[in-house]
Amino acid sequence: MTVPRRRLVAGNWKMSRTNDEAVRLVRDLLRELLPAPGCDVVLCPPFTALTEVSYLLAGTPLKLGGQNLHFEREGAFTGEVSAAMLASAGCTHVVVGHSERRQLFGETDPTVARKVRAAIDGGLVAIACVGETLAERDSGRTLDVLAAQFDLGLGGLAAADLDRLVLAYEPVWAIGTGRNATPTQAAEAHRALRARARARWGGAAEGLRILYGGSVKPDVAPGLFAEAELDGALVGGASLLAASFVPIVRAAAGG
Ligand code: PGA
Repeated sequence: MTVPRRRLVAGNWKMSRTNDEAVRLVRDLLRELLPAPGCDVVLCPPFTALTEVSYLLAGTPLKLGGQNLHFEREGAFTGEVSAAMLASAGCTHVVVGHSERRQLFGETDPTVARKVRAAIDGGLVAIACVGETLAERDSGRTLDVLAAQFDLGLGGLAAADLDRLVLAYEPVWAIGTGRNATPTQAAEAHRALRARARARWGGAAEGLRILYGGSVKPDVAPGLFAEAELDGALVGGASLLAASFVPIVRAAAGG
């Protein structure tokens, strides 16, 4: 039996937008997306803007997410924030294991596993990212790399955790480069990840949403979303303006 999965579009603002800029962007988005965006929408501003943005999103269907968290609950971890802190700032979601965290800040599959666990235990939905580098793709190892990242980062989760997990397939070579995976390449990776999830969690895996991320822009979004395997998108650069983010949300929503 196929369980219908509602699409989700998350905007990862990365290290962009001061608080004043964040407020302007959110107001622009709400003007276009209310009363009903047509799919789930999560905004992930920098930590400094979370509380401010949470006030603007209160009472709307748009959700708030952090871009990272630490796996410990509290303590002497300068510069880090916990799941409880994100929740107290209004977050319902958090991005975990983004390739920039992996490549620039030394995150590994085991730390991703601990962060996903901490997010779920803290009542958040973890948007866990996996994806291959260009060298890995060119050497034909894409599916092996995804399988390893899946097993080491998510393999410890139980079926009961799945309502607090979203997977994001983000080929590293497509992030911020203007180069997309083709819809066919994306769908192939999504199918492989879902097969892995089925093998691990059985029928519970049918409800798991798998997003695509990597240079998703308004012009390529309709082609990507023509693939039924894509349950949404994790959008970086194009999430920084309403003019580019809103058409992507509309494409995900089916028109
Ligand atoms: P991009 O970023 O859309 O700018 O490629 C995607 C991401 O890093 O999540």
